[in-house]
Amino acid sequence: MRSLWRQEFRSIDMSPRAKTCEAMKSLLKEAEEIMENFENTDALDAALIAAAQKIEHYEIASYGCLVTYAKLMEHQEADEILSATLNEEKETDSKLTDIPMEQANVVQ
Ligand SMILES: [Fe+2]
Repeated sequence: MRSLWRQEFRSIDMSPRAKTCEAMKSLLKEAEEIMENFENTDALDAALIAAAQKIEHYEIASYGCLVTYAKLMEHQEADEILSATLNEEKETDSKLTDIPMEQANVVQ
């Protein structure tokens, strides 16, 4: 993943620098809280899937914007790399959606 980022930035003649994403940090904190709050309950899997999908949706929004910017600036290589990452995020979200609800929600 790290080399992909370097490749993306190189394609637009820039150097990447690390920056903490506060929104993602909050989403991960929420997932941790869900694990604590739903521990030992039948709804734990469903709650974790929801938390994971929030993260995926945030990533999809972020990469979607970056793809749009790359297209607008006519940075074809960045567009291709970011589009591939965006598609991976969408596939992950789709897999999370496809998890059979009877496996995620055990109703007694
Ligand atoms: Fe993701």
